[in-house]
Amino acid sequence: MTLILNRDEVAFVLDMKDCINVVEAAFAELANGTADMPMRSNIKPPGGLALYMPAYLKEMKALACKVVTVFKDNPVKHHLPTTIGKVLLQDPETGDVICIMDGGFLTAMRTGAASGVATKYLARDEKGMTAGIFGSGVQAQMQLWAVCEVRDISKAWAYDINEEAAKKFAKQMHEKLGIEIIIAASPGELLQADIICTATSSPTPIFDGSLVKEGTHINGIGSHTPNARELDTEIVKRSKFIGDSREACFNEAGDIIIPLNAGEIHETHFYAELGEIVTGRKKGRANDKEITVFKSNGLAIQDTATAKLIYDKAVEKGIGTEVKI
Ligand SMILES: NC(=O)c1ccc[n+]([C@@H]2O[C@H](COP(=O)([O-])OP(=O)(O)OC[C@H]3O[C@@H](n4cnc5c(N)ncnc54)[C@H](O)[C@@H]3O)[C@@H](O)[C@H]2O)c1
Repeated sequence: MTLILNRDEVAFVLDMKDCINVVEAAFAELANGTADMPMRSNIKPPGGLALYMPAYLKEMKALACKVVTVFKDNPVKHHLPTTIGKVLLQDPETGDVICIMDGGFLTAMRTGAASGVATKYLARDEKGMTAGIFGSGVQAQMQLWAVCEVRDISKAWAYDINEEAAKKFAKQMHEKLGIEIIIAASPGELLQADIICTATSSPTPIFDGSLVKEGTHINGIGSHTPNARELDTEIVKRSKFIGDSREACFNEAGDIIIPLNAGEIHETHFYAELGEIVTGRKKGRANDKEITVFKSNGLAIQDTATAKLIYDKAVEKGIGTEVKI
């Protein structure tokens, strides 16, 4: 039998704290060599892009593949979202697909969770810290939620070029997290935050890196193509740069590829993968003045770990629909 889980069912069983824990374990497996994660396969059918993201986590006994498509005409032509994702979870002992689940909420949660792990290991740890969130979409929501799980956050600033979107974000997140959320009038105003997350659709830098204060931690999750970036050269140069994967950063992240190609930084500027920090192979923050950047491109190990967590919780709670395929 195969368990089918829709978006509401996934959202019902999935909690950020648990998700951070399994995503942290997945990054540790990647660093320890117990994760098998082939490169993402891309196919370009007419009018769209199909991505296949498989991974196996040996310790976690989790095997899955996420199928994501990006079809820009979907909303107008077919009344469907641009991006659609589903995850196929397999039994690693038999290979059988034991669960098919919606991948939209899962993706946002596991992306937030990766920033949660990075923030836990790299941000300063003090009482009454502040967060600043660029962007107001679903990714931005999960970024703030994850940061609030791992640090004592007293208030946050939100900035979006669409002010209405920022207002909606501030209202929803205040209701969810109970913290004060101030709408920043400019990108510069947000830079007073101790922890900054960039979760926008912008292909060009969204703030002036020279204005970031010492001791800040930044999670950059938005851009993930070689020609697009949210972070400018200045902030990359000023920071200790950690990525989810070295390979993904040097193949997909304009944030590091653009300054590298311009000769403004050297490859050695890439300090560590997140898994190396989690497993203690490399030291995280060295002092309270250092600026740390975590660049997230999104890895299949995050999807696989999160899918296994969702499946286990759903089975435990008796959620979902069993079908014989
Ligand atoms: N790293 C990962 O694993 C991962 C996973 C999923 C999505 N993403 C990326 O995260 C980003 C956000 O995704 P989403 O689904 O929330 O998108 P979305 O389109 O719902 O929201 C993006 C928001 O960014 C705002 N924005 C655009 N330019 C801006 C700027 N210069 N300053 C401030 N705000 C600006 C837009 O107005 C919009 O409200 C996308 O780039 C997406 O590709 C990354």
